[in-house]
Amino acid sequence: MSKVTQISHPLILHKLALIRDKNTGSKDFRELVGEVAMLMAYEVTRDMQLKTVEIDTPICKTKCKMLAGKKVAIVPILRAGLGMVDGMLKLIPAAKVGHIGMYRDEETLQPVEYFCKLPQDIHERDIIVTDPMLATGGSAVDAINALKKRGAKYIRLMCLIGSPEGVRAVQEAHPDVDIYLAQVDEKLNEKGYIVPGLGDAGDRLFGTK
Ligand code: URA
Repeated sequence: MSKVTQISHPLILHKLALIRDKNTGSKDFRELVGEVAMLMAYEVTRDMQLKTVEIDTPICKTKCKMLAGKKVAIVPILRAGLGMVDGMLKLIPAAKVGHIGMYRDEETLQPVEYFCKLPQDIHERDIIVTDPMLATGGSAVDAINALKKRGAKYIRLMCLIGSPEGVRAVQEAHPDVDIYLAQVDEKLNEKGYIVPGLGDAGDRLFGTK
């Protein structure tokens, strides 16, 4: 069974409260989502492999640790997942970015894939799929299916807020995919929104409605 990690650092919880506030406008919402994604990326990359290198300091030679160079791909689920990319690239600037476009059919609530463009060596990269909201889990499950169909092997999922239903759905469909969240909320409502949640993440990021 996949591991579920809630990253409840005080800075993340503080920023998440501001993000949830309906009076937070798009500019601040976008900045805050980016900041939380950057802070979360610190934890999501905690197990990155290191190698020992020799460095000349101004004083002497010394052995230091540097990243071993395993390549990373960030794959936002369009469109709300885009809001997390820039923050993550601040910490992992060498990562490549793939894109998967899914939308929710408003009647059936089922996800539909309409776009998929990935780095050509996706099968050997550590992949971090991003989507701020893990609601029914349908988009995440389908996005991960689309990645696996194209050869991806090392996948983790990073969201700001999840529902218990969404977490369960991903765990059942993809027991090999670890899930990282800032918080797991109470439930989904009848329209598929997370309660208390933050509303529609895409609309709030991009100022649409
Ligand atoms: N997508 C969102 O943006 N918000 C929700 O609450 C659920 C799905």
